[in-house]
Amino acid sequence: MMKPGGPFKMPPPRLPGGTGQSAVPQPADRPGLPISQRSRIPAFEVMRITDRVAQRRADGHDVVSLCAGEPSARPAPGTLKPAGYTGPLGTAPLREAIAGHYRDWYGVELDPATVAVTTGSSGAFQLVFLAAFDPGDRVALVSPGYPAYRNILTALGVSVVEIPVGPETRYQPTPALLDAAAEAHGPLAGLVVASPANPTGTMLGRAELAALSEWCSVRGVRLISDEIYHGITFADGGDHAAGGAGAGADSDRRGVTVRELDPEAVVINSFSKYWGMTGWRLGWAILPHSLVAPLEALASNFALSPPAPAQELALSAFTEESYAQRDAVVEGFARARQLILDAAPQLDWGVAAPSDGAFYYYSELGPQLARFGDSIEYARALLEGADVAVVPGVDFDPLAGQRAVRLSYAAGESAVAEALDRIIRFQR
Ligand SMILES: Cc1ncc(COP(=O)(O)O)c(C=O)c1O
Repeated sequence: MMKPGGPFKMPPPRLPGGTGQSAVPQPADRPGLPISQRSRIPAFEVMRITDRVAQRRADGHDVVSLCAGEPSARPAPGTLKPAGYTGPLGTAPLREAIAGHYRDWYGVELDPATVAVTTGSSGAFQLVFLAAFDPGDRVALVSPGYPAYRNILTALGVSVVEIPVGPETRYQPTPALLDAAAEAHGPLAGLVVASPANPTGTMLGRAELAALSEWCSVRGVRLISDEIYHGITFADGGDHAAGGAGAGADSDRRGVTVRELDPEAVVINSFSKYWGMTGWRLGWAILPHSLVAPLEALASNFALSPPAPAQELALSAFTEESYAQRDAVVEGFARARQLILDAAPQLDWGVAAPSDGAFYYYSELGPQLARFGDSIEYARALLEGADVAVVPGVDFDPLAGQRAVRLSYAAGESAVAEALDRIIRFQR
């Protein structure tokens, strides 16, 4: 077994209680002024590995990174010119263009005043969580799931109710799981869902999303739907990718928006993934009317306005030419995904989530655990020994994630082919 040593240790400090997550230094460790309780949340392991990848590349290593969920093909940047603040919820033309996107893709009519442009979907999460929840409220989400939901909510003093999910429910919540969570923890104020999800890529079909939305409306629970991976879906992603058995409408092909099902739900989305504009830091929320004024109050204090140059450039995201270019990029993801699905038997890992959409493959390590112990050690050994970066599942699921890894095939076909080759040789 290749297991070279090296100065790099993953992960750094663990939270008390042995959750397997890395932690920011605790207030007691630091001299001087205290650090807030709400900042005691784990760092994002993906970004830590990304940093290590950069170090190894600087040292001359040819690293293949299947680590960050970042499409490499980006539109050309515009020219630099001074730009002023815009309205706190974005420019009118962009809010109208986003409303137009909902008409084109989903056949949904939106009042542009309910569109809030934000600094990435990350900015939307902060504002929406602040506007919708008070400290001590209970908000449910699934594990494995995107860690920032859990960590932002925790930082805001909201009580996170984690619902462990697996292959039985395609890694998505169900009304029965929500009943059990509310029974065990008390009434919920909110539910966060994602379809396609990170890290699993699994999708909620129309029927499943409608059942969750019904469960939430009957109980006065705010449903927040992260739709950032809409548009990155695959023809063979199963019924779920097409909106559920029987639904089959062409408009469901890109993902089903909760906006169609529940006017009180919040949609969150972004230019980062389908459009590959991660660094422009631009996203949006579609709000119920009652949340528009609170969000505007918060946004105008927290960020003043979303970035003006990015908003101007983003207008060109909605042209026919842009959609065609981005759909071609998605076809590239589909080919990279197929390489992984074809190589799965040779990888000799365990159960994998069905990768309906997004650009992630999340799999148990199965037999590899006997050799490497856990996913953290596996990812460390693979990076140091074969120069392939993958993410240990602990970012997404502090407990069961010790047995799983996530591959991002956003890196593209040739990087994925090379990485698979190296992984198979490394494991021999
Ligand atoms: C599910 C999900 N939501 C939100 C984000 C945040 O993206 P951004 O802030 O760039 O819009 C990510 C980034 O990876 C993600 O995977």
